[in-house]
Amino acid sequence: MSTNRAAIVTGGAQGIGRATAHRLAAQSVAICLVDREEAQLEATAGELEAKGAHVEKVVADVTVKSDVENMASTCLSAFGRIDVLANIAGGAGGRHLHQIDEIEDDDWELVVNLNLKSTFMGCRAVVPAMRDQQYGRIVNMSSSIAHGRTGPVGTAGARLVYAAAKSGILGLTAQLAKDVGAFGITVNAVLPWLTFGDQGSRIRSKFEALDAETRDRILSNAPLGRAAEADEVAAAIAFLASEDASYISGQGLPVDGAYR
Ligand SMILES: NC(=O)c1ccc[n+]([C@@H]2O[C@H](COP(=O)([O-])OP(=O)(O)OC[C@H]3O[C@@H](n4cnc5c(N)ncnc54)[C@H](O)[C@@H]3O)[C@@H](O)[C@H]2O)c1
Repeated sequence: MSTNRAAIVTGGAQGIGRATAHRLAAQSVAICLVDREEAQLEATAGELEAKGAHVEKVVADVTVKSDVENMASTCLSAFGRIDVLANIAGGAGGRHLHQIDEIEDDDWELVVNLNLKSTFMGCRAVVPAMRDQQYGRIVNMSSSIAHGRTGPVGTAGARLVYAAAKSGILGLTAQLAKDVGAFGITVNAVLPWLTFGDQGSRIRSKFEALDAETRDRILSNAPLGRAAEADEVAAAIAFLASEDASYISGQGLPVDGAYR
């Protein structure tokens, strides 16, 4: 099937990825929905299809090169194009680590691979098709934590490693934008602060599991007095993926309610 615009959304089963898939699908963009959690992927794909979206599901681990390459070739064979890559899958790891000497090499590799290497591999997999089309929009997922953060670790697991990886994504974004601009490809990143998906989604649940004092301390630092909803971040991603952002490239857009 050939369609007007097609987007790959990684981490699309829940949270910000799910909200982004809904936003883009509402603009009649065909969605290649990518996640490693098959049951949730099926559920989100079902929601999108119920709204009339064209969806291709890809069960993939974004840290595995062959999976990432398969996601790009699946999008191309299903829709004939890759207009947008929303490189959203990522996370800070399950271990709650504060000081540098608590961090094992395995923690470093897990979080750097999940965020920075996966972002690199996703970009590498889609650029050839975008170059052939002379058109592409890549949106990478950084975080306000790229600038470092004081206070409790909160929901950010291996915070130091996570900050390093999310900061690396900004460098990758800035350089890749310069390397591929001549092919009509823009590359940007978003830097959200604390963002909640639907009830039961991972970060919302992690936050709710913190003690009340820690929760209050975290939210008291938010100028808007609350965390973001996933759709508020998805709106920024959809903008950077749109025609309206045609001359914006190499940027990191804070979506942090003036938190920084
Ligand atoms: N939620 C926040 O507070 C926040 C803030 C700043 C940045 N971010 C970043 O935004 C992105 C999405 O965050 P979220 O809160 O929506 O997360 P989430 O945990 O709610 O959703 C992440 C999705 O990615 C999938 N995923 C995780 N690892 C994967 C892998 N290796 N391969 C394929 N799929 C994988 C998960 O199954 C899940 O569906 C992440 O990169 C995160 O680091 C989140």
